[in-house]
Amino acid sequence: MSTTTDEAPLARLRAGSPLPAAQQPSWPDGAALQEAVDTLATYPPLVFAGECDVLRSRMAAAARGEAFVLQGGDCAETFAGATADNIRDRVKTILQMAAVLTYGASVPVVKVGRMAGQYAKPRSSDTETRDGVTMPAYRGDMVNAFDFTLEARTPDPQRLIRGYHASSATLNLVRAFTQGGFADLRYVHDWNRGFVANAANRRYEKLAKDIDKAMRFMSACGADFEAMKTTEFFAAHEALLLDYERPLVRVDSRTGELYDTSAHFLWVGERTRDLDGAHLDFVSKVRNPIGIKVSANADIDDVLRMIDLVDPHREAGRLTFITRMGAGRIREALPAIVEKVTASGAQITWVCDPMHGNTFSSTSGYKTRDFDDVVDEVRGFFDVHRSLGTVPGGIHVELTGNDVTECIGGSEKILDADLANNYESLCDPRLNHQQSLELAFLVAEMLSRD
Ligand code: PEP
Ligand code: CO
Repeated sequence: MSTTTDEAPLARLRAGSPLPAAQQPSWPDGAALQEAVDTLATYPPLVFAGECDVLRSRMAAAARGEAFVLQGGDCAETFAGATADNIRDRVKTILQMAAVLTYGASVPVVKVGRMAGQYAKPRSSDTETRDGVTMPAYRGDMVNAFDFTLEARTPDPQRLIRGYHASSATLNLVRAFTQGGFADLRYVHDWNRGFVANAANRRYEKLAKDIDKAMRFMSACGADFEAMKTTEFFAAHEALLLDYERPLVRVDSRTGELYDTSAHFLWVGERTRDLDGAHLDFVSKVRNPIGIKVSANADIDDVLRMIDLVDPHREAGRLTFITRMGAGRIREALPAIVEKVTASGAQITWVCDPMHGNTFSSTSGYKTRDFDDVVDEVRGFFDVHRSLGTVPGGIHVELTGNDVTECIGGSEKILDADLANNYESLCDPRLNHQQSLELAFLVAEMLSRD
């Protein structure tokens, strides 16, 4: 990353945009914010442009059906949650899911964590009221703290700096885990054996045995298991907080192009994907592979205009639509969008987020999701793409490697009454380790039906 290339586009981008930016915190002290932003601009990039290019080519393969994308991680990472054990268990869960999906899909699985930067959240209201007391809403650890006090809830720009360091430490460990031997396919396969050994998961035994056989076949053929000790793993988060994203943009010395070096893949959320807003404008100016969330309420002409703005050259791998429509609506809402987008000549990677359209408040008062709805939305996603002859390119899931009780259902049969046992998320409910693996087995079955 050089400073000798043309810096004018970078300076323009860093200077900000006159377009409205939704969902930004009200920082109380402009000078303190500027100081934090200036500091971030001096820090080393968290990812390298060449890695983003590799991911773009992997996403392009997924658009063609030559790879399958698995994006997963917390709804909102927290600073306190960025521990070695938590990070290890989340990476482990994703690796286990990927092994099962690779078998089901018979193509490589592109592993992308919602990790190392997923610290800012859009909220339905700027404030939260409890017992008549109103405070600023919690917007993620990179903005404020969750405690319901004015001190905790006041946005603090030093949290942008902490967010950078927490992301850096997380990514460092992720790189170590995935390059240092932990990702060895043989270990991953053994962990999955443990999953099906549980009586509740008998139903998946056949698939697990088939994978076992495939491993023995590979071994008998002299497959190079040494080469399967490491794996590619990419980082992604919602490009929400422009005061964090803008200063981390760098000029790629090889090409002179701009990359947001806060993550390999950035997506724009359902609430900030305004065509005339600062978020789409921002991602249109960086070369990273980009995702946009698309709900069942999306206007088809808006969707086409998003392509013109973010992917004017119709470049495979550049743009991913992460559809999040709800199990009850995907079969009716997705077809028209996929048809019109396909007719536009765009080579979109279609990824299913079966979480955000299926959230509800349980009787016991927890924000939850039903595992059956999650599975049903993925099924609907496959059904729609198969009937149109288009490619279901991947899934995007909120998950943790821990044994939480946040989503109901799954083979452990978590009930509404169980949610109180171990509900940790400060934001949306995540699939726990077992539910995540179960989803992977079910999606592998959907993939292998061809
Ligand atoms: C999210 O992914 O956590 C999120 C807020 O999603 P969406 O923008 O689709 O609502
Ligand atoms: Co969420």
